[in-house]
Amino acid sequence: MCNEIGETLDNITPGMKKQWGGAFTETTSELVDRFGQSIETDLNFWQEDIIGSVAHARMLGAQGIITEEESKLIIDGLEKIHEEGPEFLHLDVEDVHTAIEVRLHEIIGPTAGKLHTARSRNDQVATDTRLYLHNELLVVFDLIKKLQGLLLDQGEMYKSALMPGYTHQQRAQPITLGFHLMAHFWSLQRHGWRAERLFELANYCPLGSAALAGTSFPIDRHATASELGFIAPIPSALDATSDRSYLLDALHLCGLIMIDLSRMSQEIVLFSGREFGFLKLSDSVTTGSSIMPQKRNPDMAELIRGRTGRALANWTTLATTMKGLPLGYNRDTQEDKPPLFDSMRKVKDSIKLMHLMLESADWQLDRMAASVRGDFSTATDLADYLASTGIPFRQAHEIVGKIVVGCNRLNCTLEDLTEETLAEMAPEVPVEALSVIQPEGSVKRRESLGAPGPKAIEAQIAHARRLWEAEGFHTIA
Ligand code: ARG
Repeated sequence: MCNEIGETLDNITPGMKKQWGGAFTETTSELVDRFGQSIETDLNFWQEDIIGSVAHARMLGAQGIITEEESKLIIDGLEKIHEEGPEFLHLDVEDVHTAIEVRLHEIIGPTAGKLHTARSRNDQVATDTRLYLHNELLVVFDLIKKLQGLLLDQGEMYKSALMPGYTHQQRAQPITLGFHLMAHFWSLQRHGWRAERLFELANYCPLGSAALAGTSFPIDRHATASELGFIAPIPSALDATSDRSYLLDALHLCGLIMIDLSRMSQEIVLFSGREFGFLKLSDSVTTGSSIMPQKRNPDMAELIRGRTGRALANWTTLATTMKGLPLGYNRDTQEDKPPLFDSMRKVKDSIKLMHLMLESADWQLDRMAASVRGDFSTATDLADYLASTGIPFRQAHEIVGKIVVGCNRLNCTLEDLTEETLAEMAPEVPVEALSVIQPEGSVKRRESLGAPGPKAIEAQIAHARRLWEAEGFHTIA
């Protein structure tokens, strides 16, 4: 018996087709087959598997390890599989590598068995996973840029729309909606930057490492690495087949992106509730209740928030898998892919959903502006004003505290203060101070770098737009 794929495969086991079995006299049980199967999740990277195989076959031909004709036959067959799509793959096999070889054998015959020369599934799967991550990161870059573009446009549009700014979830100082939205732009900028670093870190090629220790065939690892778009081959075959740290980085990145999307979602949930009433979500992104006809629920925001838990757990899952593994391929690492595929899908869907929710959001600008009044959020302006007249800030803080207590006693707000009431509460405060307690003025005066004042927010948006228009994700400077 020969364990070469193709001719002998059908004879190996009555059950699942395998890429091994020559030395086996007994067949595996159905449970063993099922427990070991990864074909369903593997289908996420069926295309990457074909692309990796095409590069390998081309290199085998160029190096004279197989003939040029055999190489061409294999490549044409692989391209045919790519064209016809995954529906033609047999799913009663262990993994996608087997499925593609089985299909190749159906298309080109026994020459299919030569594809696996100087290769193992260990370097093959590591290559597929790196290619998959590479392609997914390109999509993530694009989605991040798009969401940032929306935030920039809305930041510009609402740059002077007043809203309360919060600390401790209590009204703190007036800001604008544009200023608020722009803060999210920067967190996405950091994620894009991180994703680019990861893209580079992971962009090295394991192909040709074979099972763990390379091969005696005269392969050209530089050729396959460069055809596949990698920077270079990974220098150690043993490291190349063992390393999964770049996947932990990927899961960590996904977790970080989800954390920020979850925080944005939390704002959407709060702001769209009647208590805040800052935001009406469009029907297209909300759901109703089966019992309460009036309900419009922010389910998508809640699900992003909810699924963030699983995205974070995915990192722990793989880290826990990896921590006990010695060098060399261990089957445990098959468990790297379900969390990876899951986290990548979640991140992509969640960025898209966030885009949809914000794009169609109906911001209740009047309501937001009205809620800034009467909340004492210009108390800091009053203290700043007194400090600017030479009173030490600590003392100014005391005086304003006294005025706040006075207002509470009179049941009035800061904006209601008159010259008389002010003189009564704090005679040491000049009447000019009254000019700083309107929220519009409060925002307008805060022009320090990074503040919401009209010039400062213009500058921030211009800075952000420059970075956004540039290719890739530069850091903030
Ligand atoms: N499904 C396997 C994985 O994801 C493919 C590699 C199998 N290698 C092996 N030596 N059994 O890791």
